[in-house]
Amino acid sequence: MVATTYSVQPSQVIEGAVRVPGDKSISHRSIILGSIADGITKVNGFLEGEDTLKTLAAFQNMGVKIAGPNNGGVIIEGVGINGLLKPSEALFMGNSGTAMRLLAGVLAGQKFDSQLYGDDSLSNRPMSRVSEPLSEFGAVIEMENEEYPPLKIFGNQLTGVNCELKIASAQVKSCLLLAAIFAKGKTTITEPALCRDHTERMLKGFGYRIDQDTIARKVSLEGGGRLTGTTIEVPADISSAAFFIVAAAIARNGKLKLTDVGINPTRSGILSLLDLMGARIVVENKREVGGELIGDILVRSSVLKGIVVPKESVALAIDEFPVFCIAAACAEGRTILRHAEELRVKESDRIESMAIGLRTLGVKVKTFSDGLEIEGGVIGGGEIDSFSDHRIAMAFAVASLKASQKILIKDCANVATSFPRFVSLANSVGFNITESSDKN
Ligand code: S3P
Repeated sequence: MVATTYSVQPSQVIEGAVRVPGDKSISHRSIILGSIADGITKVNGFLEGEDTLKTLAAFQNMGVKIAGPNNGGVIIEGVGINGLLKPSEALFMGNSGTAMRLLAGVLAGQKFDSQLYGDDSLSNRPMSRVSEPLSEFGAVIEMENEEYPPLKIFGNQLTGVNCELKIASAQVKSCLLLAAIFAKGKTTITEPALCRDHTERMLKGFGYRIDQDTIARKVSLEGGGRLTGTTIEVPADISSAAFFIVAAAIARNGKLKLTDVGINPTRSGILSLLDLMGARIVVENKREVGGELIGDILVRSSVLKGIVVPKESVALAIDEFPVFCIAAACAEGRTILRHAEELRVKESDRIESMAIGLRTLGVKVKTFSDGLEIEGGVIGGGEIDSFSDHRIAMAFAVASLKASQKILIKDCANVATSFPRFVSLANSVGFNITESSDKN
């Protein structure tokens, strides 16, 4: 294993224009749907991160010819919904919960058995959230203690069901929508709160009929249909852009443009939260590309105020809370986040990871089972453990825009799962990060 450390010196100016890498959620889905479509799918702007490359390699292992990625370009020769082949080995999903949960949905309805496993972090993430509803379709999945990876999936003929989700999770919803394609009959899924809808949008882009009742938060589809290969333009990932948005907002001199960012309303919760805090953010040049809304985001230095996060924003900003906590630590007054217990089962326990790191930097933090309370104020320096979590590592790099001293961030190798070349892009707009790697 290579241990990667970021040594981040305080800086005060963030300026320029950047396009962050492609959206991770959309990149995973482009490979999955492209592989089971009939004909060729061309993907532009694919995220060449470790997570999405795991999904790509898994489908190659199931006999799908995929060329690339080459500068974000991927060409998939879809095999149709009956064309996947038994993989030659257990499929390694690395750090990626999305890859594991979405693939579980695809694999449960195949004519062959398969296995999915992951790294240490993924091996400790809950999977009964997908195996339980999948078992209602007739899926047969075995796991460690009926909860943890590896997943042993015994391919079976599935039958469509009516399913009320217990948690607001796009991964669970998408897993079930994918299983539904391979199931006999109709599936209807109801979600408890609005969460990201990239799967639904992309299914339509592949010509698959789905029925949506957005008010009742219901989506239905008939199994056994056909997807037709298409072209997918992947927008820049708002979850990656969020680090730069907060950096520019808290910098003494911040003036930054982020181009082509996906601003799908089920993903843009961070923009509403920062707006509530008083951030100077303008979204320009809004347009729809391939069923997804994108825009250019302009951010300037701002005086932020503490807020109480509205409950309905939680699922819409779920991946952005690490960097949101940095914004809260730089705001005047107190910020309260509740109803966010899902943060405890992400790549790390993000409530604890953020609380521990913020306290190291001298910030007052209280934790709850479902959130945190952060008192804005002065940020010092110190040594932070990222707990191998990419978003914790990048969030603490952003704290350097307000910190009085150097911040050393340990265990940053997993930044490559979602944001290849984060350090060079960040330094190009004014961060001062030195990366070092040691073999241990
Ligand atoms: C994702 C959904 C979210 C998010 C993850 C990606 C997706 O997880 O945290 O990074 O692509 O569907 P949940 O839906 O489980 O909250």
